[in-house]
Amino acid sequence: MEARITLLPGDGIGPEIVAEAKRVLDTVADKFGHQFETPSCPMGGNAIDEFGDPLPPQTLETCKESQAILLGAVGGPKWDDPSAKTRPEAGLLKIRKELGLFANLRPIKPYSELLDASPLKREIIEGTDILFFRELTGGIYFGDSGRMEHPDGEKAFSVMTYTTSEIARIVRLAAESARNRGGKLTSVDKANVLEVSRLWRQVAEDVVKNEFPDIEYEVVLVDAMAMHLISRPSEFDVVVTGNMFGDILTDEGSMLPGSLGLLPSASLGESGPGLYEPIHGSAPDIAGKGIANPLATILATAMLLRHSLSLESEAAAVEAAVASVLAAGHRTADIAAGGDSISTSEMGNLVIQELLA
Ligand code: IPM
Ligand code: MG
Repeated sequence: MEARITLLPGDGIGPEIVAEAKRVLDTVADKFGHQFETPSCPMGGNAIDEFGDPLPPQTLETCKESQAILLGAVGGPKWDDPSAKTRPEAGLLKIRKELGLFANLRPIKPYSELLDASPLKREIIEGTDILFFRELTGGIYFGDSGRMEHPDGEKAFSVMTYTTSEIARIVRLAAESARNRGGKLTSVDKANVLEVSRLWRQVAEDVVKNEFPDIEYEVVLVDAMAMHLISRPSEFDVVVTGNMFGDILTDEGSMLPGSLGLLPSASLGESGPGLYEPIHGSAPDIAGKGIANPLATILATAMLLRHSLSLESEAAAVEAAVASVLAAGHRTADIAAGGDSISTSEMGNLVIQELLA
C-alpha cells in the first residue's frame, strides 16, 4: 500500500514523541511492504511563531491531501496569553472543523501490569474497557459566542446547540461500535436542565430503538457519570456524549489507567483523512529532556493503521509490541512509580525491536 500520512509534531514534547511514532511507522512499512510518505508540517504555537497562524493554509492543504494525520500536541505557556490574537488551540479546533472530524474516539483500557499506577483501587478499575465517542465539531465549542456591555461591566455568552443530524450521526457510529464490542451503549446528557440535551436524548433514543434494538442502552446524566466513572468504570462499554461533556469526562477517564502517557485517540469524519493523537498535552515542563512517554503516540499510529488505512494486522502488531514491552517491565518516568526508567528513544527502540522480533 502507498499512503501519505501527514505529521504535525506541534509543540513541547510533540516533536520527540512524533519522531518515535514515525520510526514505528517506517518499521511497519518495511516489515509489511508498504510505502508511507510522511511530510511534516507546522501547527500550533510553532506555526504562530513562524506564520502568525496556528494552522497555516499550506498545512491544512497537505492534511487534506493525506490518508491520515498524526498529531503530537500543541500549546504551551509561551502562547497562553488570553488576550493574544490567536492561540494554538484555535488551530486544533479549526482542523477538526475543516476536516469534518465529528467523532472523537477515546479508548480507556488499563494495562494489567500497570493497575497499581492508577490512583484508584485495583478492584475498581480491573476489567475496565471503555470506548468514548465524543462529538467534536458541534455543541458549545462551535456555537455563537460574544461579549456585550452590561451595567455590571460586561456580559459574555457561549451557546450550546445541536441539530438532529449532528446527534444522530455520532450516536449511530457509537452504537455500531457497541454492537461490535460489548453490546452496551451509554448516552450522557444533562436533559434534566438543558433543552439541547433533551433533543440529544430524544434523537439518541430514536436512533437506538429504530436501528440498534439489539444493543443494551442506557442514559446517564453527566454529573452522575462523573461519579460512576470512578466508582464503577468496569460497567461501561461504549459511551457517547457531546463536545464539552466529552472533553471533561475523557480527561477524568484518562486518569483510570494511571498515566496519560498511554492513551491514544482518533478523530474521524464521514470521509477524508482521520486525525490521530495522544490524549495528553504538550508537557512543556519536560520538553526537550528526552524523557516523555512515546507510547500514546505509538498507539495512536496503531489506531491510524486500523481506522484510516484498514491495516488491521499491522495495527495489532504495533499494539502487541507495546504490550510486550510493558509486560517486560520497561517504563518511562511517568509510569515508573519511582523505579528505573528509560528515555523516549529507548522506549521507541524497544517497540521497534519487538515489532521486528
Ligand atoms: C482536547 C483538548 C482540546 C479540547 C483543547 C486543547 C482545545 O482539551 O482535545 O480534549 O478542549 O477539545
Ligand atoms: Mg480535553
